[in-house]
Amino acid sequence: MSKDRLIIFDTTLRDGEQSPGASMTRDEKVRIAKALEKLRVDVIEAGFAISSPGDFAAVKAIADTVKDSTVCSLARAVQPDIERAAEALKGANSARIHTFIATSPIHMQYKLQMTPDEVLAQAVSAVKLARKFVDDVEFSLEDGSRTEFDFMCRIIDAVIDAGAGTINIPDTVGYGEPEEYGGMIGRVIEGVANSDKAVFSVHCHNDLGLAVANSLSAVLHGARQVECTINGLGERAGNASLEEIVMAIRTRQDRYPVDTRIDATHIVPTSRLVSSITGFPVQPNKAIVGANAFAHESGIHQDGVLKYRETYEIMRAQDVGWGANRIVLGKLSGRAAFASRLEELGITFDSKEELASAFARFKDLADKKREIYDEDLQALVSEVQTHEADEKFVLKDMEVISRTGSLPHARLTIRVAGEDAAVDADGDGPVDAIFKAIEKLASSEANLQLYSVNAVTEGTEAQGEVTVRLERGGRIVNGQGADTDVLVASARAYLNALNLLTTPGRLHPQMEGV
Ligand code: KIV
Ligand code: ZN
Repeated sequence: MSKDRLIIFDTTLRDGEQSPGASMTRDEKVRIAKALEKLRVDVIEAGFAISSPGDFAAVKAIADTVKDSTVCSLARAVQPDIERAAEALKGANSARIHTFIATSPIHMQYKLQMTPDEVLAQAVSAVKLARKFVDDVEFSLEDGSRTEFDFMCRIIDAVIDAGAGTINIPDTVGYGEPEEYGGMIGRVIEGVANSDKAVFSVHCHNDLGLAVANSLSAVLHGARQVECTINGLGERAGNASLEEIVMAIRTRQDRYPVDTRIDATHIVPTSRLVSSITGFPVQPNKAIVGANAFAHESGIHQDGVLKYRETYEIMRAQDVGWGANRIVLGKLSGRAAFASRLEELGITFDSKEELASAFARFKDLADKKREIYDEDLQALVSEVQTHEADEKFVLKDMEVISRTGSLPHARLTIRVAGEDAAVDADGDGPVDAIFKAIEKLASSEANLQLYSVNAVTEGTEAQGEVTVRLERGGRIVNGQGADTDVLVASARAYLNALNLLTTPGRLHPQMEGV
């Protein structure tokens, strides 16, 4: 049986970034976009260009860099959004504008305060305007799963006539149930007269843990694009996870009439990259990319796997990229080996100075840690890119005294807007002392919501990657720091979070109305 292509639309950089605290810098987004291109994602939703100057710059940089995937920007169904998206996408080999408006009774009445006819007219003009800039236009019916069926068919018919080539019916609030949601997609495809002129797409949120099941059910009923994210990142409980969708389809070819062009051997490295950049750890029992996904604990399982792998394994770990990142560098590796490994990982620098600074940090790290893995290099580059730009707070020096029977004491020198300042404090523990000392200086009034440490690689000499989540006035940021000394990593992560709080916020596509 010949298979249809299922288009994989990755929205890690847009919906994924809407996870509270998951904001990324332009350089970090470009690194993730390059990894997604290597993974052979069909469409990369690079951001929401109008939401901030930073988002615009990221969409533009990705459009200028990525060659093998379509690059897409989100735009509400209004002229300024569409023009801004078109401007950011100018340099792309293949560009898509993704415009949307809410279509459910509850959203139209309370959020938009518009009648269905007004919504339909605005959707049609938005699609027509977008088509003036690009041939590839996607239209989304926000809150599609709670949209009244006849209205849904009417608006879809009209936007296809206006030039939309992809129709996305999101389960925005994660309310759908697989049989019901998939069945609805099938009925819409049947009920819309010109449905053969568009690709039908789904975009499911995971509020009930059903995002992947709902997406796969829709595929069985005719959807040919799935919107998903690495590690299932996304607004609230997240989106359907790319790795689960792709591997379900690949592993159960007996069930699905589709295949993807994804190179699955890049799944685990991409998952790690996204986790390290966003500071969202992957739970050990997460399917495909969790540390335990291919680990066999019980004796019975181990015995079975050793005798005949298929007794307990339905996929091979190496097919999804486990073990792919094991090439090591060490103390004696030179600049050429370092640069060439970075290039293979898709990492490039804007300037020679940045490369020199990364190499200096590499040498520093190699003095403390015998073998440097790809994960170390990723963490190190994040450090260079996030901690060297024009930051308000920079750690210059730190001493921490921790002795049994007495309060830990931290003394720090921090560069604040170009001037060095010394500060010290006691704390309940060494990390507490460091954070108290920083706060003496910064007086940020932020609340510490999360402090977590993950080992970048295995062993006691591994770098600790620390995430610090701060909240102030409803805004949440995640700071990151990595070092073989977890106390240094903790100080850097806290300062990074403070620096992020000093940057301007962004417009949220769904909360502001149109
Ligand atoms: O969840 C949603 O409805 C969205 C749209 C903007 C596509 O993210
Ligand atoms: Zn969404």
